[in-house]
Amino acid sequence: MHCLQQLDATERNALLAEAASWSMAHAREALPEQAVLALKAGAPACHLLGTIDGTLVYAQGQSTSSALEFVSMADRLPVELLDAALECAEGRGRDLAIWTRHVSSEGLAPPCGASLRLDREILRLQGRLDGHLVPGMPEDVSISAFQPGHDEAEFLELNARAFADHPEQGAMSQADLSLRFRQSWFDPEGFLVLRQHGAMIAFCWTKVHREPWGDIGEIYVIGVDPRLAGRGLGRLAVSAGLDHLAGLGLAEAMLYVEATNEPAIGLYRSLGLSESWRDRRWTTGS
Ligand SMILES: CC(C)(COP(=O)(O)OP(=O)(O)OC[C@H]1O[C@@H](n2cnc3c(N)ncnc32)[C@H](O)[C@@H]1OP(=O)(O)O)[C@@H](O)C(=O)NCCC(=O)NCCS
Repeated sequence: MHCLQQLDATERNALLAEAASWSMAHAREALPEQAVLALKAGAPACHLLGTIDGTLVYAQGQSTSSALEFVSMADRLPVELLDAALECAEGRGRDLAIWTRHVSSEGLAPPCGASLRLDREILRLQGRLDGHLVPGMPEDVSISAFQPGHDEAEFLELNARAFADHPEQGAMSQADLSLRFRQSWFDPEGFLVLRQHGAMIAFCWTKVHREPWGDIGEIYVIGVDPRLAGRGLGRLAVSAGLDHLAGLGLAEAMLYVEATNEPAIGLYRSLGLSESWRDRRWTTGS
């Protein structure tokens, strides 16, 4: 199996069809959003695609500052795919990083010809939407929907500060934002912005997944101005987001959070969300 820089339309369509069918059978995404966006946009990546024992396998590798980082389709990580990923990374003089998805806290390193170390975990939390109460709003704080064409710069500045320690979210650019606004799920009414004296101080961006296997709401991005942390704004923002999702008739909500993000996990657990699975990243790096 060799690394392809681009997939042709036939390969891409076969892959997306296989991902859709797996997702339907397992009621979960076969590939994370970033990988699907890269695939649909025909973005350059290290694509490993092949058939092993009659089963289509695929992994997409993207360069990070230190590694070639792979995510595979449909939790399929046969040793042949891993070895090909390792060879690609070594050929480029990079460390290999690879995700095992939908596992528990006991999930082991995948079988690979190199020793792998766990270096990142993302938890998926889920809970029911009934019975949430939005806490009382301070008098000088207002909540409104994001205004496309007006709020972008202020949001990106606040997002960068709120997520200064988060490798991907903190680096969100205008282009990343525009790409999301063009997705069919985007609804400014579900992108809640908290303001104090006119200035944006927190946000809760929700996303509704209308999947063939069921509908679910997501707390997609939530952030509070770090200068105002610990004053109840996070609880207010997430509660307002959950309330918005419940108002759409959804029964359940989910979200992803770094396993090291104790403040956020504490907040979500206190709102009744609990772990359904986690994704773990393994690396050959030190
Ligand atoms: C996570 C975040 C939204 C919390 O916002 P906040 O306004 O500081 O939080 P609140 O004051 O509303 O606190 C709500 C709950 O969060 C938890 N929490 C907040 N700060 C905490 C801390 N430093 N340590 C542990 N738990 C904490 C507690 O459970 C708290 O409940 P309590 O006040 O009853 O104890 C905020 O820290 C933030 O924007 N972080 C950066 C962006 C981010 O990580 N977003 C989540 C990505 S999934």
